[in-house]
Amino acid sequence: MLTREQNDTLTQTGPGTPMGELFRRYWIPALLAVELPEPDCPPVRVKLMSERLIAFRDTQGRLGLIDEFCAHRGVSLWFGRNEDSGLRCPYHGWKYDVTGQCVEVPSEPVESGFCSKIKLKGYKLIERGGVLWAYLGPPETEPPPPEYEFATVRDSQRYVSKRIQDCNYLQAMEGGIDSSHVSFLHRYTMSSDPLFKGAAGNQYNLADAQPRFEVVQSDGGLLIGARRNAGDGNYYWRVTQWLLPFFTMIPPRGNHSVHGHFWVPIDDESCWTWSYDYHPARDLTQSEVAAMKDGQGVHVRYIPGTFRPVQNKDNDYLMDRRAQKEGRTFSGIEGFAMQDASVQESMGPIQDRTRENLVSTDNGIIMARHRLMKAAKALEEKGALPPGREPAHQRVRSASVILPPNRPFAEAAQESLRAIPGTAPASV
Ligand code: FES
Ligand SMILES: [Fe+2]
Repeated sequence: MLTREQNDTLTQTGPGTPMGELFRRYWIPALLAVELPEPDCPPVRVKLMSERLIAFRDTQGRLGLIDEFCAHRGVSLWFGRNEDSGLRCPYHGWKYDVTGQCVEVPSEPVESGFCSKIKLKGYKLIERGGVLWAYLGPPETEPPPPEYEFATVRDSQRYVSKRIQDCNYLQAMEGGIDSSHVSFLHRYTMSSDPLFKGAAGNQYNLADAQPRFEVVQSDGGLLIGARRNAGDGNYYWRVTQWLLPFFTMIPPRGNHSVHGHFWVPIDDESCWTWSYDYHPARDLTQSEVAAMKDGQGVHVRYIPGTFRPVQNKDNDYLMDRRAQKEGRTFSGIEGFAMQDASVQESMGPIQDRTRENLVSTDNGIIMARHRLMKAAKALEEKGALPPGREPAHQRVRSASVILPPNRPFAEAAQESLRAIPGTAPASV
């Protein structure tokens, strides 16, 4: 349970809030690279942590992420013309470059130098691993480019998608940390989804609904170990990596691709759920990619032309009570991603954590909240830069392993939790 103040601190990410400042010390996913495919393509609206921005790729291919609104009289630059190395407001023709610097005010004499005094806020946007990453913090504390393994493998080894979720990022992310729900919410889907089924580990998941959780601090966040019986006195461990500020890596299953999520605040009542699949040692197969595009696994089907899922709160996520009763789905909702989103959005735009009752399987969530609050406080009070920014913190993997009893999982699985390029993941 949290106090109201703690809940506010953790869930508010606008400019100037403690959590907002913390998140503004990381590269965060802003767009899929395909959303800005070529020079002078249409600009795209981007809202991140309550800031309304516009992203564009100029004539030279440079990326810009600037204030959405024209400095003259506030027109949205989404209506602008992307031409000749800048974005031009359609109202009176003021033009901005990728840094937000105004480079032309047609009504004023060039000699006046007026436009040089006008600058919109501008942030860096870089491309890596099929994703455009934004840095919204002070330039002097910009971290090295992201080194998460999925972003460093070949394009053919990876598939990335994103969807809008109608709730605060934290309750969504807490779903990514809490793997105890898998034995319930995803119970029947595990055996039917092409990107999950068939793994030996699935049986241990289904057979033991009382996992023991052990949570250990890592350099960049937490290792969340869920221990289930695996027969012969051994244990099946699923080890999730949580990295600050909002990255969860799900433990793999069999030879399936590995997946994970970023939970990026759009504002305090909605977030982008980013979902990736990759295999560190092989290309994804055609049928895997086809299944991902079809919304299987951790991905979704979209309302055409949007990133809004076909199943959403306006249609009760296409709840199927018969499928629920007949045991084809546990909750009546189809698919992992919307099973998660439906329960998370059902908590309301911002979960009231003053009324929750946590149990031992929520230890990962408790520690993640604690670590976020601690990092935000250290930044606010001492200017201390938070964990999870360094490449070494990011070159890690989740794992699923069978271990003998009486061995601490973090030590026994140590090698499996490092991202060693080209090697297969430790997976059961
Ligand atoms: S409002 Fe943009 S140029 Fe006038
Ligand atoms: Fe889930």
